[in-house]
Amino acid sequence: MAKASNTVTFELRKDTIYLNVKSSQPPRPPRIFDTSKLSEARDRLRSGDVVAIPTETVYGLAASIESEAGLKKIFSLKERPFFDPLIVHVESFKSAQRLTTNWSPLVDFLTRTFWPGPFTVVVPKATQVNSLITSGLETVAIRMPAHPLALEIIKLCGAPLAAPSANKFGRTSPSRAEHVRSEFPGVDLVVIDGGPCEVGVESTVALVSDDTVKIFRPGAITREMIESALKKWSHPVTVETLESEASPGHLKHHYQPKIPLALLAGAWNTNTKSKIERELGASFKNPTELHLDSDPAIAARELYSEMRRLAESGADLLYVIRPQDASGLWSAVLDRLERAASVQT
Ligand code: TXA
Ligand code: MG
Repeated sequence: MAKASNTVTFELRKDTIYLNVKSSQPPRPPRIFDTSKLSEARDRLRSGDVVAIPTETVYGLAASIESEAGLKKIFSLKERPFFDPLIVHVESFKSAQRLTTNWSPLVDFLTRTFWPGPFTVVVPKATQVNSLITSGLETVAIRMPAHPLALEIIKLCGAPLAAPSANKFGRTSPSRAEHVRSEFPGVDLVVIDGGPCEVGVESTVALVSDDTVKIFRPGAITREMIESALKKWSHPVTVETLESEASPGHLKHHYQPKIPLALLAGAWNTNTKSKIERELGASFKNPTELHLDSDPAIAARELYSEMRRLAESGADLLYVIRPQDASGLWSAVLDRLERAASVQT
């Protein structure tokens, strides 16, 4: 099979989104969304409540950056520690620029290349950005999501939205509206349904200064895509991929499904099973494979849905055979698998 390209392009039109993931699969048809709950979402956000919003990556639990009550509610609903900073979602370049003291020419170039899209820039924060958002750091993370409903809700709210993924802290991110509902049962939460997320894994997070790009979290805007874009940039730029410790909140154990996940170096067999059982101190009656598509765009899109589906299917252990390719979008898939895994062989 031809090697799949990782190029992701977005084309936004009124009420529809086309995400053309260049892959072996035919592009999805345009989607039409239910907009009936948007005014309730606006009212709730303006009155300091939270709303679950779709983005092209995963669903977010959003609050207006101007509402301290809303920001606090994000942390309490998610049971998220305050040391884990939030991403601010904007619908215009102007409002992004207001959040920082240094919108450098390089930040401008990269965001104009990749926004709207799954690319989060970490830049020095402006004084008015609430330190609840930044966990007291001097930097703030900003992105413009490529989902028409997300952009519309930010516009309606009249202020940027801080939004982490809409899951309990440390758990698998939601890539469908029903995942969000099952994460917060019994909570009076408006969930805006924007359909299944096209990308499926969280955005690339990168610290961008005048001449360096440090990737904290790999995502669908890959290192290779950033390097390729930089060929058109006038000055030399260093691109680095950093270990998770550089980004508070990007923890070693994260994205975990409800049953243990084993990341395997090779095929499943009885030796592997015994080894995993020894390491986890448990025995498994119904180990089940989470099969990854050979196209990384599809593997990423399906990853969290499959984790959730299989965890509810009666399986007591999930195992995934480690993809051989660690480049491009595979690096994001691998990153999430390594953090979701309870055991690796
Ligand atoms: O795709 C996404 O980014 C989704 C959607 C909803 O936009 N959001 C998301 O948010 O994944 P969350 O909170 O689950 O992950 C945000 C991560 C934090 O855990 C942290 O690692 C990093 O972004 N981050 C935020 N602010 C930062 C900062 N100032 N410096 C370094 N890392 C930061
Ligand atoms: Mg998250």
